[in-house]
Amino acid sequence: MFTRRGVMVLMASLVPGLLVGCKADFDPEAIPESVARFPRTPIAGDMTSTRVVLTFYVADDSPVTLRMWTDEGVVVDQAVDPSGDGFHKVFVDDLTPGTTYRYAVFSGEAPDFEDRSLIGQVRTAPDADALVPVTIALLACVGQGTVLPDYYLPEGSAAPTPEPFQWEVYTHAKEHDIDVLVHLGDQAYLDFVWHTADGTYEAYLNAWGYYHGGGYRDLYPLAGLYATWDDHESTDNGNFDPWDMTAEDQAKLVNAQDAWFATVPIDATARGPVWRGFRWGQTVEVLLLDCRYELQPDHQVSEEQLTWLLDRIRQSPCRFVCVASPKPFSVISSTTPLAQDNMERWENYPLDRDRVTALLDELDARHVIFVTGDIHMNYLGRTRLSGEATSDRLWEVCCTSGNVNPLADKLDPAQFEFVDNSPHLPVLTFDPGAGTIHVAFHARDGSLSFERTLDDV
Ligand SMILES: [Fe+2]
Repeated sequence: MFTRRGVMVLMASLVPGLLVGCKADFDPEAIPESVARFPRTPIAGDMTSTRVVLTFYVADDSPVTLRMWTDEGVVVDQAVDPSGDGFHKVFVDDLTPGTTYRYAVFSGEAPDFEDRSLIGQVRTAPDADALVPVTIALLACVGQGTVLPDYYLPEGSAAPTPEPFQWEVYTHAKEHDIDVLVHLGDQAYLDFVWHTADGTYEAYLNAWGYYHGGGYRDLYPLAGLYATWDDHESTDNGNFDPWDMTAEDQAKLVNAQDAWFATVPIDATARGPVWRGFRWGQTVEVLLLDCRYELQPDHQVSEEQLTWLLDRIRQSPCRFVCVASPKPFSVISSTTPLAQDNMERWENYPLDRDRVTALLDELDARHVIFVTGDIHMNYLGRTRLSGEATSDRLWEVCCTSGNVNPLADKLDPAQFEFVDNSPHLPVLTFDPGAGTIHVAFHARDGSLSFERTLDDV
C-alpha cells in the first residue's frame, strides 16, 4: 500500500556543489500541471526539524519523481515506482531545520518531466533551541456553512456526488503566512461510504478524492499538516460505539482507518495510535489527541494516551503547549444544552479531565492552550465560566471550517467572548519574545471577524 524508501537528500546549504540542479536550470512553473494525472493535492505533514512525510496520488499509476527544492536549488529527487493503486506515502529525512521547501510530483524522470502535480510548500520545525514565532491555522468539520455537511455520496446512491467539493473559506488561506495546519477532525464526511458502498477500502480511497481533489487543493499546498481525526472519516459516531461493534462494522472501520492512513501524511506505515506530538523549537509543543477511537464508557482517552498527555505537559521545554483535542476541553456554559451528539466532551469524562486539571493547577500552567472542533462553531473562551483555578481560566479556541451549529448563540458570553458558527479560519501566532498568543478568526470571504492578543499565557 505504501511506498517507503530511503530518500537521498543533498544538503544544499552545506554542500552547494552537490545540488541536484541549480535554480536557474529548474523552473517548475514551466512544466504544465496535469489535473488528469494528479487530480488530488499532494499533502506534506508530520514535520519535525529534519523529516517530512508526503502523500500523493497518481491517477494512472505511472512512474513519477518526487522533487523538493529551495531557493538555492533542488535538494530531493526521488524516483517513485507504481504502487498498484496510485497512492504513495514517502518519508524524507535529513532536511535542514527551520527551512521552507517546495515540492511537487513530476511524471517520468528528470530532466524529461512531462507534467506535474500542484506545487506545495512545507516548513521544517526550527532547531531545538530556537525561540521564534510560530503560526498555526486550525481546520475542522469542513463544509458550506450549512447544518448538514458535504456528505460524499457514492455511485449507486440516489444522487452521487458529481464534482469535488469546494469551500470559499480555504480560498483565502493563502493570504496568511502559516507554518502549520492543524486538522482537528471531520476532514471529510464519509458516512455514505459506510452505509451504501459497503465500507470497502477502495470506496473510502475513492471518496477522499472528492475532498483532496477539491477545496483542499487551495489549502494543503500552503503548509505542512498535523492531522487528527474524529468520527466522519469513517461514519457518524451515532452508528457505533468503539467498544461494542459487530464484526462487520469492525471491518468497515479498519477499511476507513487504513484509507485515512494511506491518504493523510501521518508518520506511520500502518494503522496505529493517532495521538502524537511535535515541538517547534522552544516556542510551542503541539500535542494531537485521539478522542474518538480510544473512547470507553467512562474514559475520553486510553490510559496510555492520558499518561502521555500529562507527561508532555509536565516535561515540555517549550514556552507554550498547544493541546489539539478533537473534543472541547471546556466546561461549556450554554442556555440551551448542545445536542446529544456533542456530549462526548471532556467535561463528561471527569475521571480523565480531573487528572488533567490537577496537573494544570499544580504547574500553574497558564501557557497551555486548547484548540478543538467537533461542535460546529468558532469560539474563543475560557475553560470554565467561573472559578479562579488555573485550569478554570485557560483559553480554548474552537473551529468549524464549514458546518454550523444553530445553538452556538446560546453560549454564555461571560465565558466565550467570541462565538460565530459560520465557517472561519482561526490563526494562532505563538510569540515567545512577547509572551503572547495572537488569535484571529478569518471569515469565509477573507475578512477579519475577531482578533485578540492573549497576554496572560
Ligand atoms: Fe463535524
